Amino acid sequence: MEIKSVRGMNDLFGVELEHWHYVESKIKKVFHSFGYSEIRTPALEKIEVFSGTVGDETDIVEKQMYQIITDSETYVLRPEGTASFMRAVLEHNLHGTGQPGRYFYYLPMFRHERPQKGRLRQFHQFGAELINDASPEADAELITVLDQIYKSFEVTEYRVRINSVGCIECRPPYKDKLKDFFQPKLNELCEQCQKRFERSPMRILDCKRESCRAIAKTAPLILSCICSSCKTHHERVKTCLTMAQVKFEEDPYIVRGLDYYTRTAFEFTSELLGAQDALGGGGRYDGLSSRFGKAPFPAVGFGLGMERLMIALQETKRLPQTIQTPSFFFSPLGDKAFELLFPLSLKLKRQGVWCEISYEKTKGLKWLLKQANRLNADFSLMIGDEELKNGSALLKNMKSGTQETLSITSLESELLRRATHAP
Ligand code: HAM
Repeated sequence: MEIKSVRGMNDLFGVELEHWHYVESKIKKVFHSFGYSEIRTPALEKIEVFSGTVGDETDIVEKQMYQIITDSETYVLRPEGTASFMRAVLEHNLHGTGQPGRYFYYLPMFRHERPQKGRLRQFHQFGAELINDASPEADAELITVLDQIYKSFEVTEYRVRINSVGCIECRPPYKDKLKDFFQPKLNELCEQCQKRFERSPMRILDCKRESCRAIAKTAPLILSCICSSCKTHHERVKTCLTMAQVKFEEDPYIVRGLDYYTRTAFEFTSELLGAQDALGGGGRYDGLSSRFGKAPFPAVGFGLGMERLMIALQETKRLPQTIQTPSFFFSPLGDKAFELLFPLSLKLKRQGVWCEISYEKTKGLKWLLKQANRLNADFSLMIGDEELKNGSALLKNMKSGTQETLSITSLESELLRRATHAP
């Protein structure tokens, strides 16, 4: 029997993983310059972290969580980062100072979804969370950070959509209004939306089905129903985004698939992605700590899907063509030459220079040069009996094809001088 990886969970290696490293380090630089420090939480959490907090009617909690059931506990593989983050904040009293705290994470998430392009069962998210700041400026900052991440790759093919989903004061009357609107049309809605009608009528607004969208088009919109303080907050977010030179559009149909949002909700979408067009998204979640039975404090954040960003970068050819390759490939022809080159190769490696050496004893020079080519080494260094006799080594520049003879006595310093990634 052939054993394969779990569907929707990928192996990463080679050039693809090099590209991931490139992208990860650029994103971390953006977080660094905006003052966000990293937090890592375990992959496994008690089920209570998500059920009752993210929203029991959300797709994530209702049907997408991988569960591990033991005698005494039910654990789940983290389907999203915000509830885990909140659990950690409360556990370590990170909000206790009352001062704004900026955190980011880069973690695998697990959702039992039907895999398709850009939708995996194990995917990777960069997330950012800013706690203890209720200001609209904080919301604008988060949107700006996400925007800056895409800008840092020169990606322009995306849209920033923002909305306000109101607060605990103004959302319930809006939901009632929506229900009044959808009630007479209930039979025309898809099965999923009929289920949503009772507890999450707002989710009907972001149903992807054409028939539901057509009905939702004339539904009352939240922006005309939010209270005056939510309205003021929303207007200020927009003003700050304009100041930050972030191009955005208001989209009253952004409701997000998670229940904990209040006021600002946003999504970055891109046509480069196909059906799963959300590059990233987030919003404010001031009430989430109360869902953990604790006093509320303000928070806002976003999550960015790495796999989707990688698709966008691939489609637009914005991934670097060059990946790191060895500076040197050593070809010792014979035991004596090996005794000289093996310790030298280690010396260079210990100084941070990537240097390959062949352990093959029986192959000739032609084969060794092929290996140097295969690995894309900058230089190939060859020592055979003839060279040993003369106290010399033959260095070939694999890119230009030129050769030069170096003295064995000054080999280390000569190689260090030529190394591309010299220490
Ligand atoms: P989310 O919208 O569920 O939000 O996920 C954020 C991003 O993760 C999506 O925009 C998408 O790029 C990516 N994503 C989601 N599901 C998948 C999947 N199955 N395969 C590949 N990529 C996926 C959250 O998770 C919130 N915790 C974000 C947040 C942070 N809100 C406040 N703070």
